[in-house]
Amino acid sequence: MAEKSKTKSDIKGIILAGGTGSRLYPITEGVSKQLLPVYDKPMIFYPLSVLMQAEIRDILIITTPQDQPYFKRLLKDGSQFGINLSYIVQPSPDGLAQAFILGEEFIDNSPCAMILGDNIFYGSGLEKELSKARNNAVNGYATIFGYQVKDPERFGIMEVDEYNNVLSIEEKPINPKSDYAVTGLYFYPKGVSKIAKSIEPSLRGELEITCLNEIYLKNELLKSTILDSGYTWFDTGTFESLLDASNMVKTIQNNKDIVICCPEYIGYINEWLSNEELSKRAETFNNNQYGKYLVKVKEKRKVYEQNRN
Ligand code: G1P
Repeated sequence: MAEKSKTKSDIKGIILAGGTGSRLYPITEGVSKQLLPVYDKPMIFYPLSVLMQAEIRDILIITTPQDQPYFKRLLKDGSQFGINLSYIVQPSPDGLAQAFILGEEFIDNSPCAMILGDNIFYGSGLEKELSKARNNAVNGYATIFGYQVKDPERFGIMEVDEYNNVLSIEEKPINPKSDYAVTGLYFYPKGVSKIAKSIEPSLRGELEITCLNEIYLKNELLKSTILDSGYTWFDTGTFESLLDASNMVKTIQNNKDIVICCPEYIGYINEWLSNEELSKRAETFNNNQYGKYLVKVKEKRKVYEQNRN
């Protein structure tokens, strides 16, 4: 295994893939939202790729009790991507911040990133921003990511000054103070489970991630990154955004002849998967487009390394 994977195992990752997905009924009446296809891969591959790009290798998948077997069937122990996956259930959808209480043992007082299982991020500068957030977490700061949206009342909203300092955060405000949504990607320093336990449920009975972020804000420990128009972000919460996400992935991939948010590719680039392991994985795809891409990936690594140097 690569040296960097040993030195950077100090931060954990959580994918929260619970919830009923009721906003997408009837599509999600019989299947978990985060297992739906977004063009050529299951939705959860996208947030998984983000954590892997942040060089996070120990990842906890939180699902509803009834959906857990299907996530395990898809993702197994993660070794096909060169990562370690664990699973726990969220018995009822009691809020995003509950993930840090349910995952306390897994987090083991390390810094921890969380991403929502229905959030899709894409942009060429993402890796650098993830690395900054990761360093912030290791150095005691939380990081949230803002993205300009046209329907701010649907999201957590952050108000920032001209230096991107966060002034306030509000959950689904009726009169939003800005149009910067707080995206579903969060990095926290060690101690996040203890802070999550101190939160009171909101009026709708949930442990709100916004309350958790407000605590870091109040303690001047919250940093923010605005993902500008060079990035694409979807939370796939509506029929339109689900289709838009698939179309976006199709357009990017077909234009560039690549597969984006491909966990096997990232595992290989991160040197968590050997040549043999990658080839073995490619064989399972029965020579379809995805499998052919994995065969090509070895060439891509050379290009990637040249670009990096
Ligand atoms: C949740 C958060 C919200 C955030 C959004 C991003 O909303 O509560 O602050 O902006 O995720 O996807 P929900 O998807 O639960 O409506």
